[in-house]
Amino acid sequence: MEKQHAVMTVDRDFVIAPVDKRIFGSFIEHLGRAVYDGIYCPGHPQADEQGFRKDVLRLVRELGVPVVRYPGGNFVSNFRWEDSVGPVDQRPARLDLAWRTLETNRFGLDEFVDWARKADTQVMMAVNLGTRGIADACNLLEYCNHPGGALYSDMRIKNGHKDPHNIKYWCLGNEMDGPWQVGHKTMEEYGRLAAETAMAMKQIDPSIQLVSCGSSNGKMPTFPQWEATTLEHTYNFVDFISLHQYYGNEKGDTQDFLAYSDDMDAFIRSVTAACDFVQAKKRGTKQINLSFDEWNVWYHSNQKDDERMRDEPWKVAPPLLEDHYTFEDALLVGEMLITLLRHADRVKMACLAQLVNVIAPIMTDANGGPAWRQTIYYPFLLASRYGRGTALQPLLRSPKVETSGHGAVDAVVAVAVHDETTDELTVFAANRDLQKDIPLEATLRGFEGYRVKEFLSLENEDLLAENSAAGEKVRPIARQDGVMDGACLQAVLHKASWNVIRLCPADRA
Ligand code: AHR
Repeated sequence: MEKQHAVMTVDRDFVIAPVDKRIFGSFIEHLGRAVYDGIYCPGHPQADEQGFRKDVLRLVRELGVPVVRYPGGNFVSNFRWEDSVGPVDQRPARLDLAWRTLETNRFGLDEFVDWARKADTQVMMAVNLGTRGIADACNLLEYCNHPGGALYSDMRIKNGHKDPHNIKYWCLGNEMDGPWQVGHKTMEEYGRLAAETAMAMKQIDPSIQLVSCGSSNGKMPTFPQWEATTLEHTYNFVDFISLHQYYGNEKGDTQDFLAYSDDMDAFIRSVTAACDFVQAKKRGTKQINLSFDEWNVWYHSNQKDDERMRDEPWKVAPPLLEDHYTFEDALLVGEMLITLLRHADRVKMACLAQLVNVIAPIMTDANGGPAWRQTIYYPFLLASRYGRGTALQPLLRSPKVETSGHGAVDAVVAVAVHDETTDELTVFAANRDLQKDIPLEATLRGFEGYRVKEFLSLENEDLLAENSAAGEKVRPIARQDGVMDGACLQAVLHKASWNVIRLCPADRA
């Protein structure tokens, strides 16, 4: 008979890999109200002397985001970076062809670098390989990272930034396989252009780390041949390949929606295999790692946005991609974080897309009001806070749950992270069963004598509960009922819940 409880074994020595903190990255694109009205809003009561919103900065710092990708996204494929620097009143307005809006360039590259410093984060810059190419990527890199004495680095100094920005992470274009991308390419065209651009960029600054564009998602017709073919060109010059994936509950079938983290898992495994295939073919010693630099739930705003872009083009910072997230969205985001942690050996960077207003954990009121936390803010916050250390591989036997599109899947998904600096262990576990609570029995080898320090759970009777500027219906609740006896942890995972169980040595406060 199938067991109705989940049984897990974790061992201090069953190590997946150290968690790279860069997996808790995020993304700001010049899109909708992400920049204007989001992170930058001169005149707002919360604006600082540079026009950056202090309330938003506080929330970004609270989330602990180590890296933020910029300026796109689809936007980058038609972006002229020079338009966005220098005296603000001399910057041209441009048509943004990705989102059919008007880009004023009031906020640009140097402002973003200043903002990132205040947000305690690093910049991951994307270059335009849609309408532009090698020369412009090199000019941009010189502007950002070269000390001075040449045209573009001197331009930066003249613009008030004496010291180089020293941007370490660079994306070679964005979603270049997608027919929606301005200047999209075949895999051969992209592979050659990316390799040539990468080679030239590393001549300027060999210390940078480069991300080659992978497929726009795991359902693209050219996936995974795109990965194999493009990497054959770029292997010698790049450090990462990108993965992008969004999920939505278009069918209104929550049980199936919650199984999408299994698709994410399969996607990661396939891209890893493509990287290793190319490494073997090249007889290479370098391992290509994964930059999952766009991931989230995204579907609530799609239809409205398509109509707005079609019917009301060339507006400045219109509200676009403003998904209002529900409790069930937060559950899937929590599961996706577990998936990223379970692949800590290969996923070394990841960006929740995006950060503010646009498919984002942080929203700002459109009429000069406050900033507030969406439902998905909380799983990200807790994973970023307690998911640092060494990811441990759980052996897990879970009851199954039937889904319409994924067959019978494990109801419980989990991972454990050991923080060696505090010697604490955190178990992240989701119960995807919408009907049944599931008792979890976990043997935590090497953690005998630990006690439950904190048991936080995201749970809600209403799967569609949302947060708003007026109040939070979805936030973690503290549970009192998890117990540790010797090496055995017992906790009941409530139906449809995402859980964080923190354990520490018994004698520790
Ligand atoms: O994040 C929103 C968009 O999704 C990005 O601009 C693009 O890269 C992806 O398709």
